[in-house]
Amino acid sequence: GGASTYEAEDATITNGLVESNHAGFTGRGFVNYDNAVGSAVEWTVNATKAGPATVELRYANGTTANRAMDVSVNGTVVSPGLAFAGTGAWTSWQTTSITVNLVAGSNKIKAVATTANGGPNVDKLTA
Ligand code: GCU
Ligand code: CA
Repeated sequence: GGASTYEAEDATITNGLVESNHAGFTGRGFVNYDNAVGSAVEWTVNATKAGPATVELRYANGTTANRAMDVSVNGTVVSPGLAFAGTGAWTSWQTTSITVNLVAGSNKIKAVATTANGGPNVDKLTA
């Protein structure tokens, strides 16, 4: 089957807020990560079968600084310091994709800010 959408505003948020003041998001809004190391969003993602899957994160970063995040799957960092470069405006949303191994059934995918700027604003995960 095709990819499923998991809104950030429905995920587990650590040190961030659901907001809707920058247009272009899907769902009810996006997560504004607190501007601090360790702010995070964790999604529970279902996979119909074990193996590699493309995970896409949709985000906006209205600054010129990379808001790098560590992405983990089921507790293991699989993409350290994944880049979330500036998108030109908080209303300009872009995607970045990684391929990760998932287990069949429920998976925890977490994106944790690694710099004092926190993460970007994150709209959703698709997998
Ligand atoms: C602005 C913007 C927020 C963003 C923040 C940031 O305040 O309105 O949506 O999260 O900058 O720098 O992280
Ligand atoms: Ca922020």
